[in-house]
Amino acid sequence: MNVLLIGSGGREHALALALSKSPLLDKLFVAPGNPGIAAIAECVVVDAADHGAVIAFCRLMKIKFVVIGPEAPLVAGLVDDLEAAGIAAFGPSKAAAQLEGSKGFTKDLARDFDIPTAAYGRFSDKASALAYLSDHPAPIVVKADGLAAGKGVIVAMNDAEAAAAVEMIFSGAFGEAGAEIVIEEFMDGEEASFFALCDGERALAFASAQDHKRVGDGDTGPNTGGMGAYSPAPIMTEEMTARVMREIVEPTLRGMKARNAHYKGVLFAGLMIGRDGPKLIEFNARFGDPETQVMLPRLRDDLLPLLLACARGNLPEGPVHLSPMSALTIVHAAKGYPEAPEKGSIIKDVEKAEALPDVIVYHAGTKRQGAALVAHGGRVLNVTGLGTNVQEARARAYAAIALIDWPDGFYRRDIGWRAAKPSV
Ligand code: AMP
Ligand code: GLY
Repeated sequence: MNVLLIGSGGREHALALALSKSPLLDKLFVAPGNPGIAAIAECVVVDAADHGAVIAFCRLMKIKFVVIGPEAPLVAGLVDDLEAAGIAAFGPSKAAAQLEGSKGFTKDLARDFDIPTAAYGRFSDKASALAYLSDHPAPIVVKADGLAAGKGVIVAMNDAEAAAAVEMIFSGAFGEAGAEIVIEEFMDGEEASFFALCDGERALAFASAQDHKRVGDGDTGPNTGGMGAYSPAPIMTEEMTARVMREIVEPTLRGMKARNAHYKGVLFAGLMIGRDGPKLIEFNARFGDPETQVMLPRLRDDLLPLLLACARGNLPEGPVHLSPMSALTIVHAAKGYPEAPEKGSIIKDVEKAEALPDVIVYHAGTKRQGAALVAHGGRVLNVTGLGTNVQEARARAYAAIALIDWPDGFYRRDIGWRAAKPSV
């Protein structure tokens, strides 16, 4: 089977590597891909926003299955258009991708189907949002309703910050994504990322990971797309996983069916696990980045038939087989990330890091310039180590990243600190 993968980040490098190992695969195309992906698949220039062009390319290359990495093409309805053209696709329809595309949609679904989450209000004008804040003192969380590249959430620790967030969003800081806002209760606990494969009717637990959202050591500084991750998340025990499936994932699939928006693809639940159990922070309609870079190296099953089963509505009974090994990835970012990453600096000695045992270097934001590899994004490389526990995975990843010669890059020194504490 010929497969087209859409995307260009570290997540897509990890997906491409897993797909490339499938005995079912004839040829893998990736649009647009990156220099790391180019070593294992054919990178092509096809604009994912031009659905007609994607369909025409699939017909030309006899591509029977399209795997979509990022959220924007899902929210734009690429899956709907591919399916209408008779091409199977991994990912939710436009209607189902509202679980990521609209925070208000997800909060209403959680309310209607008894999914544990923070209490909330939805607002489309400033006066009523500010009035709600005067009844709900900080700490409180203010969110732009739509897609804001992970930047539309303000966790306000005092009332002035909360009011300023409302002002900022309604003044157009996030464009259309901020036409509506959600204000919700502050939840305390430990965060985890949990992933379930879904075929419209059923869900299968896939894997868990722990992300590090803040740019700086000790979880300081602004939020990013994620500066590092490890898998599994120790807090996601078998019991906790069963609880999340029962209390959050399964009612969501029922709710989406009831709204006539059957959910197919991977459901990524951002969870806050506190004293009274797991609560939903948000859903994403895609694999996580960098979570995928630590989950897929642990996958023992063939990824391609699992993704195909989501699209075809015939997920196996399960379970998904994962290695008991831990994986940990460090995001090597360009100086200036997340505000203004500097592009164009030269990166050397990636192959020295790759030569270490149990190390994978995923490309996320790189470009070839002649013979040189240069930075071409905010998150540039994901250096991943595997080990029998998080400590070992962490030691391998840090030993590998130290070999990369890139003075214009930076990375957090404390990825995995919570799980790798000697006392845990
Ligand atoms: P989101 O983009 O919705 O995942 O939010 C980004 C980050 O903000 C989350 O990973 C949490 O760390 C934090 N956050 C979001 N909602 C809440 C909440 N209700 N309570 C506490 N922290 C939150
Ligand atoms: N790492 C969080 C995300 O993919 O949204």
